[in-house]
Amino acid sequence: MKKVLVTGGLGFIGSHTVVELQQKGFEVVIIDDLSNSSIDVLAGITAITGKAPAFEKLDLKEKSKVEAFFGKHQDIVGVIHFAASKAVGESVEKPLLYYENNINTLVYVLKSLLHLPTQNFIFSSSCTVYGQADQMPITESAPIKMAESPYGNTKQIGEEIIKDTCKVNSTLNAIALRYFNPIGAHSSIKIGELPIGVPQNLVPFITQTAAGLRKELSVFGDDYPTPDGTCIRDYIHVVDLAKAHVVALERLVGKNNASNYEIFNLGTGKGSSVLEAIQSFEKVSGQKLNYKFAPRREGDVIQAYADTTKANAELGWKAESNLDDALLSAWKWEKHLRNI
Ligand code: UD1
Repeated sequence: MKKVLVTGGLGFIGSHTVVELQQKGFEVVIIDDLSNSSIDVLAGITAITGKAPAFEKLDLKEKSKVEAFFGKHQDIVGVIHFAASKAVGESVEKPLLYYENNINTLVYVLKSLLHLPTQNFIFSSSCTVYGQADQMPITESAPIKMAESPYGNTKQIGEEIIKDTCKVNSTLNAIALRYFNPIGAHSSIKIGELPIGVPQNLVPFITQTAAGLRKELSVFGDDYPTPDGTCIRDYIHVVDLAKAHVVALERLVGKNNASNYEIFNLGTGKGSSVLEAIQSFEKVSGQKLNYKFAPRREGDVIQAYADTTKANAELGWKAESNLDDALLSAWKWEKHLRNI
């Protein structure tokens, strides 16, 4: 069996990807430091796939431990690197934490990877690298704008580190996947998103409000230059996103990549406004959502949705679920968590 390392494999996107990898016959080893995830996720993955992935609790900032791990696992055929901090606001407050967590760890993993016989690497990047793109939908060749936050900067710098490393190491093959807005949960309702504290992202805030944990949702801004005045995003079902990682890994393992550093947008290609997301949620859940309009949130772009032509054509991958499907799965997950 082909062994894959998934860093951050107990997180939201990581755990869904581990499920898809195992279902495709890969042997998975997870590294996670549990800083923003729960060990219980392992049981969820095992219940879905019938197989427990190997797991090591390891902090990737500990360079010698990373080296020792790779020394033990010389037979890894690919690394999918999710492990990173991702809260935009927190990154503004604690920039060095973000640079250390997201950049140092990337460097250590890449350095160790370069000692393996097979060097395939997939990086979690974000549409945040585009900032407010001038044209919609956003293609991979859209210019990279100055990052709005240290978090966004770590994704830009991360991509550059990988690109520079690929340039001088022809044995290294890497793909950066630029995610749009991942939402939803696995259809089994055994894994899903587990935000710690007050959710910063729209969908967990919506589901927690509907479940009674939050009083009301604040819609940040109603005067944007969009049809209904609220911001537009490309919400992609996390299982679709997870499947794209398997396809990207198979591309590298099968040596079907066009160059040793590639970039793909992962989205649905469809933009939805905050109000449309609320309407969709109300429709699929049958719940009335308590929300109010609030001032704009600093750093938010007006709109961002993906041109998925490249991923569709070259990866042969396409998002299958729509916003309704994804929100229904998110709602089922929330109800499961709250025993509703
Ligand atoms: C944010 C980050 C992005 C990151 C992603 C990962 C910014 C500018 N972008 O995406 O870089 O990769 O999270 O988690 O922070 N909204 C509300 N009320 C809420 C929460 C959100 O109206 O309580 C609105 C936002 O203004 C936005 C939309 O919902 O228009 C989506 O917000 P969110 O889920 O936080 O995602 P992004 O901001 O797009």
